Amino acid sequence: MTASKAYSFNDHTYDVVVIGAGGAGLRATLGCVEKGLKTACITKVFPTRSHTVAAQGGISASLGNMGQDDWRWHMYDTVKGSDWLGDQDAIEYLCRHAPEAVYELEHFGVPFSRTEEGKIYQRPFGGMTTNFGEGIAQRTCAAADRTGHAILHTLYGQSVRRQAEFYIEYFAIDLIMDEEGACRGVVAMDMATGEMHRFSASLVILATGGYGRAYFSATSAHTCTGDGNAMVLRAGLPLQDMEFVQFHPTGIYGAGCLITEGARGEGGYLTNSQGERFMERYAPSAKDLASRDVVSRAMTVEIKEGRGVGTDKDHIFLHLDHLDPKVLHERLPGISESARIFAGVDVTKEPIPVLPTVHYNMGGIPTNFHGEVLTLKNGNPDTVVPGLMAIGEAACVSVHGANRLGSNSLIDLVVFGRAAGIRAAELVEPGARQPEMKKDAGDNSIARLDHFRNANGGTPTAELRLKMQRAMQEDVAVFRTGETLEQGRKRIHDVVGGIADIKVTDRSLVWNSDLIETLEFDNLIVQAVATVEGACGREESRGAHAREDFPDRDDENWMKHTLCWVDANGKPSVDFRPVHAYTLSNDIEYIKPKARVY
Ligand code: FUM
Repeated sequence: MTASKAYSFNDHTYDVVVIGAGGAGLRATLGCVEKGLKTACITKVFPTRSHTVAAQGGISASLGNMGQDDWRWHMYDTVKGSDWLGDQDAIEYLCRHAPEAVYELEHFGVPFSRTEEGKIYQRPFGGMTTNFGEGIAQRTCAAADRTGHAILHTLYGQSVRRQAEFYIEYFAIDLIMDEEGACRGVVAMDMATGEMHRFSASLVILATGGYGRAYFSATSAHTCTGDGNAMVLRAGLPLQDMEFVQFHPTGIYGAGCLITEGARGEGGYLTNSQGERFMERYAPSAKDLASRDVVSRAMTVEIKEGRGVGTDKDHIFLHLDHLDPKVLHERLPGISESARIFAGVDVTKEPIPVLPTVHYNMGGIPTNFHGEVLTLKNGNPDTVVPGLMAIGEAACVSVHGANRLGSNSLIDLVVFGRAAGIRAAELVEPGARQPEMKKDAGDNSIARLDHFRNANGGTPTAELRLKMQRAMQEDVAVFRTGETLEQGRKRIHDVVGGIADIKVTDRSLVWNSDLIETLEFDNLIVQAVATVEGACGREESRGAHAREDFPDRDDENWMKHTLCWVDANGKPSVDFRPVHAYTLSNDIEYIKPKARVY
């Protein structure tokens, strides 16, 4: 592909460019401007519409406001939740720094719900325990059931106040890499005008979120297309642990909208067609507050064995009707409304029909706990890529390993968003001179854009996307086997083959949603390839990756992260890096693998 003459670039220079304005992107932007770094934040949606806005139940931190708590217990729960695939140095960093990160949010102005004494309110969440698994912890700090909304609005306000520069409704297309493999900037398109922009920066921070929309039914917004992950693949770098896709137990049946785990934290419970609280059989101690992978599998088994509810016996009931209406009004107003709108249910009187729904990607861009992107070079899988960081759901630090605990996502965003700002200040001198941008930098992106803009085949993007989403939903699901995965692999590679015949209807560059959706689909499909490839290869069951043909966790052979590269033709290649089986500090010991029961 060669670049068209129709384009010219608007060039910009910044110390740091952050891509994405969700919780992680805004926390990093804020951290960088606070350190005196000239910082731009590029975002394809208005910042307060980023998907963090949809986070409901809360943010974990061992504040101990509602009973004794300890960051070491939080660490233990996170390691166990990860099914021992998480890197324990990073998990230690997360849990140790969580309380200060939440108090900072409070001081920035996040309107948390309060206890009678005026402290931050904390609710129970799945897998969060006291005393290394003995009791139920109240660790999840909440702003009713609109915690992400509260955090996002506060961080945006703080960033604007400190003169962060925003490029809103700009679609980031590609990283600009130099010959030595360092990142030098990014190419983006202003979607309102079609103008192309080249941002030169000492540091690029990817905070582009997950790729839930590779699946048919997801709690993720339509914008969750993992654009940064795909940019990393196009830069010749790997993604990590993509086979681990989280299904949230309680998406509204048919609509996919999230009903927060906080609903079960406040006392809600699941039943099958016999009215049985079946979680008591699967997780005798934690019951409905077991880890998400455990609850989603239990619900799937109930449905498979004929105990689902509804005419087609294909979903489960979530009961809140026994709870005090005052609790529902104060603590769960958002989901009460969602249940009414999307399921026609009055939660004070009837159960909500729910189904496990794709919610989160544990995998993503491999990083260390500073946020620096890692790759495999000369046999070293912890080689840092100069000039490039990744944070939030786009990144795989890896603190969530094979399964993330609810409310550990928001804390991941702010702890590692903050860490990226700290590291940026160590690495970048404000106003430092940057190497001259090569004249042809970004031409590849223009060629790709032009190629799709003029694509006039016989298959609309929407058709290919639907095929991909259905294949992922059906074949790379809660339970997997070698057979379903092979079928999924074939279906996904058929979709890759279909791209040669793609059809984009609108040739304009101005607000061309068909073109943007095509770029997003092209981003999604390579992540689908990496997901199915990782899943085919991992012959064990661990966390969210449940293989019926390999039902046990295999620590002898699989205490390792999958690294997957996907080339321009959609061809994957796989390697591995060992799990970090060590902690950061001497005052805490490595938590050895053991059986995972709740
Ligand atoms: O259920 C929820 O409120 C989701 C929280 C999370 O994914 O962390």
